[in-house]
Amino acid sequence: MILKKFNTMYSLLRDANKYGFISGHKYLDNEDLSRIERIVYRSNSDAESDQHLVESYENKFSSFFECKNNIVSFASGRMAFYSLMRIMLISPGDEVILTGFTCAVMVNAVLRIGAKPVYCDIEKDTFGSCPLSIAKLINTKTKMVVAQHSFGIPCNIQEIADICKKRGVFLLEDCAITFDSKIDGRAVGNFGDAALFSTDHSKPINTIIGGCIYIKDDSLLRKMRDYRQEIPSIDQDRQINLFEQFLFENMINRECDTIVRSFQNVFTVFKRQLIITIKNKRRKIYLEGDNFNPTLFPQLHDSNYCNYPYPAKFPAFMAYIGLIELERWKTERENRKQILASYIKTMVNFRIDIKEVLPKSYFDDHLEIVPLRFVFSNRRFNIAYKSLINTFVDTEAFWFEKPIICCPHDITLMGYNAGDAPLAEEIGAHIINLPCNLNETVRVKNKIY
Ligand SMILES: Cc1ncc(COP(=O)(O)O)c(C=O)c1O
Repeated sequence: MILKKFNTMYSLLRDANKYGFISGHKYLDNEDLSRIERIVYRSNSDAESDQHLVESYENKFSSFFECKNNIVSFASGRMAFYSLMRIMLISPGDEVILTGFTCAVMVNAVLRIGAKPVYCDIEKDTFGSCPLSIAKLINTKTKMVVAQHSFGIPCNIQEIADICKKRGVFLLEDCAITFDSKIDGRAVGNFGDAALFSTDHSKPINTIIGGCIYIKDDSLLRKMRDYRQEIPSIDQDRQINLFEQFLFENMINRECDTIVRSFQNVFTVFKRQLIITIKNKRRKIYLEGDNFNPTLFPQLHDSNYCNYPYPAKFPAFMAYIGLIELERWKTERENRKQILASYIKTMVNFRIDIKEVLPKSYFDDHLEIVPLRFVFSNRRFNIAYKSLINTFVDTEAFWFEKPIICCPHDITLMGYNAGDAPLAEEIGAHIINLPCNLNETVRVKNKIY
């Protein structure tokens, strides 16, 4: 019996380790891939068709929210955030409140603008932004509050919205790592003045890289569209690089029905990769991080330079992938919810007191959680336990172990001082979070639920 339970857990975790946490569009067939390839190779030369694809994607994305047609896409979430601050004329001397439990690329967007990032804390039951902590930080310099929903769990957004409304501060919901979760039937993203989404390859909707912003106010929306019109596109060579990355991730994740097909895939990707490597000897394949401010920290420029336009338009081939992802989202969201249930059931099987260990929000009937990751933080789960899980899931799998993740430098350079977000520090030190996009066949095979 114990052996069977262990086997179940092992299969679940081993599958998560297939290629980290990236699901790689394994549902696409060769015909889909060829269609995407055609868009990449014609990209930037058939502007009308490209624009049509991007508009269709934006329309479809906005159908998840209360105001229709109010989405503007960019090549990443951070660029969408940066662009919003630009059109709102946020500038040096202004403050933007973010949680300390965020990613360095968000902070860097604020630093690029020249404004000051100010850090609020999180709440232990949601892992999201804390209303009380935000209320304490708002002052006359505050131009925007960014409220983050984490791991698929809605934060106490209504309370934050009430505070922002009372104090006259613009509220941006950061939905980068929470898509389509609901509070009393209302989806996150609908509570603030605007909402930010990331669609990079680790997020619920995967377009390799990408992000978009949902804006309620029509005049601000118009300004954003005008601004987006003026910014550069990612050049075709780099789009081809990104397409290669997409093919690689797809190949790794595909359930190949024959050995021949898998060899074919390996060969095609290898051949293309070789050509690209030779052509762009020094070019990196992936759109790297952007985790420092090149103007403020020129001394760090060499090691982490940003080799793509910032901000940039969302490439059309990614919009096409996004359309497919959104079309199948219903299936994906159910899959994710079932995987969360199976993680919890596995814990119960191991006689772990889930009420003690898991965040309260998992038991809140007002919430519909569409999980990005299954998350908990508890002192009981010490380093030894984490290492055990790490033998099955790659170590990068634990997100937000420290404040301001993905910052390769001292976070004081980002204006974060120890103790700014004490709960984020404490919770991060004991956090465990696992992907919720595992292979369906593994679950069925092991009859997990
Ligand atoms: C919470 C959060 N917000 C925003 C972003 C920015 O998204 P992007 O990588 O698309 O710029 C990230 C990136 O992972 C994130 O974790």
